[in-house]
Amino acid sequence: MSQKKIGIIGSGLIGRSWAMIFAASGWTVSLYDIEVKQIETALADIKQQLKTLEKEKLLRGNINADQQIALISGSTKLEDTVKNATIIQECVPENLELKIKVWKQVDAIAESTTILSSSTSTFVPSLFSKDLKNKKNIIVSHPVNPPYYVPVIEVVPAPWTDPEVAKKTRAIWEEVGQTPVSLTREIPGFIVNRLQYVLLNEAWDLVKEGVLDVKDIDKVMSEGLGMRYAFLGILETTHLNDHGFVNYCKSYADTIYAVSQDFKAPTKFQGPQVLEIAKQLESDVPLDKLQKRRNWRDLALTKLSQLKKQMNKL
Ligand code: NAI
Repeated sequence: MSQKKIGIIGSGLIGRSWAMIFAASGWTVSLYDIEVKQIETALADIKQQLKTLEKEKLLRGNINADQQIALISGSTKLEDTVKNATIIQECVPENLELKIKVWKQVDAIAESTTILSSSTSTFVPSLFSKDLKNKKNIIVSHPVNPPYYVPVIEVVPAPWTDPEVAKKTRAIWEEVGQTPVSLTREIPGFIVNRLQYVLLNEAWDLVKEGVLDVKDIDKVMSEGLGMRYAFLGILETTHLNDHGFVNYCKSYADTIYAVSQDFKAPTKFQGPQVLEIAKQLESDVPLDKLQKRRNWRDLALTKLSQLKKQMNKL
């Protein structure tokens, strides 16, 4: 079989993660950016990250860090990155005009068999693909940060995406060790953000009503619901909480409905409450300590992903 190649457009945070994930599975990676400096920084950062992961025995894949590094090259020539690619993964900043422009450039030179995949977190694929000649190949593959440790990928087709492309994209994510979920159609917010926004809206209202302070709301997730959601989905949780889902509904349908009537209509996150929540968050993690806390989060997620692998074997 010929060597598989991914072309990554944009070498920032997410582009670098994809490069590492695909190299770990032996793919050739071509990383494109508009600035030479940006590419140089990205390649140096990837090299350092892979070496550190190897030292800490956290490297993914069956080949060593040097072999993975050798699979990754940088380019400021779009043709180099797009040519012969099995899949293009676009990772430019979240700006619709820019996405439309970049996809037009890629589309002009892409082969008709190349999958055209975007990392976008907020734009449904029809928004940036309707005029592409290869629009049947467009798909969104939305990760959760940091994708090296958090495996889920939302695979979202446009109305004109060839179902075979959606299937092949899912298979690629499985092959490189991620966990794809396939939406049957595009929907605003996809799934991750829809679920996340339900929780955020409720947290916002609880602060507004003065029911709980910010730290205690976060504890409900980190020391409560999040503990089991790290292993079980929301639906399986209900299944186990009673004698199966049918019984759960018999027991709790009235309560769920009654409590849900108490939810407020969503409001925009603006006004003095933004500063109030920020003040409480910053009292624990000041803005100049965000990176330190992110590093801690990534370490915690690494350990959790190792534990999940062990638990999934039981
Ligand atoms: P970033 O700002 O870290 O990186 C963007 C990169 O794109 C930069 O290296 C920049 O030089 C490059 N770029 C700008 N214009 C370009 C062009 N015309 N052609 C090629 N490269 C260009 O952004 P990040 O965080 O990596 O996000 C990329 C995408 O991934 C966005 O769509 C974002 O919504 C999505 N995403 C981000 C997540 C996150 O937590 N950062 C999580 C999930 C998705």
